[in-house]
Amino acid sequence: APTPPAHAALRGHIVTFRGNPFLMPPADALVEETDGLVVITDGRITHVGPYSETGTHLPPGTDVADYRGCLISAGFVDTHVHYPQLPMIAAYGEQLLEWLERYTFPTERRFADGDYAATIARTFLRELLRCGTTTAAVYCTVHPQSVDAFFTESTRLGTLMVAGKVLMDRNAPDFLRDTAQRGYDESRALIDRWHGRNRQFYAVTPRFAPTSTPEQLELAGALLAQDQTLFMQTHLAENRAEVAWVAELFPDSRSYLDVYDRAGLVRPRSVMGHGIYVDEQDLCRCHASGCALAHCPTSNLFLGSGAFRLFDVMDAKRPVRTGLGTDIGAGTSLSHLQSMNEAYKIAQMNGHRLHPVQAFWLATQGGAQALHLDGRIGTVAVGMDADLCILDPKATPLQALRTQMCDSTADLLFTLMMLGDDRSIRATYAGGTKVYDRDMAGI
Ligand code: GUN
Ligand code: ZN
Repeated sequence: APTPPAHAALRGHIVTFRGNPFLMPPADALVEETDGLVVITDGRITHVGPYSETGTHLPPGTDVADYRGCLISAGFVDTHVHYPQLPMIAAYGEQLLEWLERYTFPTERRFADGDYAATIARTFLRELLRCGTTTAAVYCTVHPQSVDAFFTESTRLGTLMVAGKVLMDRNAPDFLRDTAQRGYDESRALIDRWHGRNRQFYAVTPRFAPTSTPEQLELAGALLAQDQTLFMQTHLAENRAEVAWVAELFPDSRSYLDVYDRAGLVRPRSVMGHGIYVDEQDLCRCHASGCALAHCPTSNLFLGSGAFRLFDVMDAKRPVRTGLGTDIGAGTSLSHLQSMNEAYKIAQMNGHRLHPVQAFWLATQGGAQALHLDGRIGTVAVGMDADLCILDPKATPLQALRTQMCDSTADLLFTLMMLGDDRSIRATYAGGTKVYDRDMAGI
């Protein structure tokens, strides 16, 4: 017998967007309903409106979860994160290349063990949901079992995730190297097993240009050419020493981005982590190709990598799709509220003001557009998947004090992004199901 439709309803202050606040006045981009109702049926949003007009929109017998005093937002989208690096977050003292050798590679070695990978995947996803993040573009390790472990756990939770096996056939320890052919074959098998299954999507994942031979990059491009719906993720121009190394390794390429472009990796659904040291020609190419940049503020500050030029990247004459990334374990928090906090400070260093509406847009709809998933996630609107987070602006005594001073929604959002973290997340919904509740243990 067909199962009856599953309903849920949420009451609270709805905050979402109708457009890109870097390209229109932030006040025009914001959509809000101060006492609103969201109705969910079978995992999708079927009604959004004022609570006072609930009327016939509430299916009989549906409980309304009362989140008055909290904001109802689309779940956050983390466009760049490494789940295997969660145990080595906050590793002292190094910048990128030394940090990789000293801390990252030894940690990733442990994911040869599928049971260990499953344990960390479970912890990672639980932590993401505790931070209100419902979708992420995730690097696994070179081991195919690290991908199986991750997608298995994400399937169990019903979260929409993008992930892939790292490709690395040179300039890495032998215990983390594949070969161009083996990386291709293992990726192909993982695509067949996972891509488009339930809410899981595969990203072809060459770590970065220095750890792949030109042959491996070519084969990554060959995989992508087989299916336009595949994702691609890699790192781009994060650190000065890295950029100099790439110029040595690929003397024929015009730029770092051009290394990837020649291999067919620059296209829609490609996400380049960082992109700090890019020039105007690179940004024009990103705009035209539909690829995206992942701005990773806490990571860039932690590793001393540099100051991402967000307002240049978003220039209205050739805006580049951009989302926020936590880049754990180089990042220092899985909370996108903390990413927004540090993004604000980086913008300050560049002489720009990151408006709170711009920051929250980057963390939700902007991230969804970066992944070309904005037709499904990133906005609270009818027809969208019901991936939501509930934000509590009074999570601590100090935040309650500051929130009393707020005289606008923009100021409320700014207070949340500057002072908030995992404590600010009251609940998280994925595909219409509550997958985290701050006040209940064990879900
Ligand atoms: N570049 C290549 N690999 C990595 C990584 O794991 N983290 C960061 N932040 N940058 C990288
Ligand atoms: Zn990274």
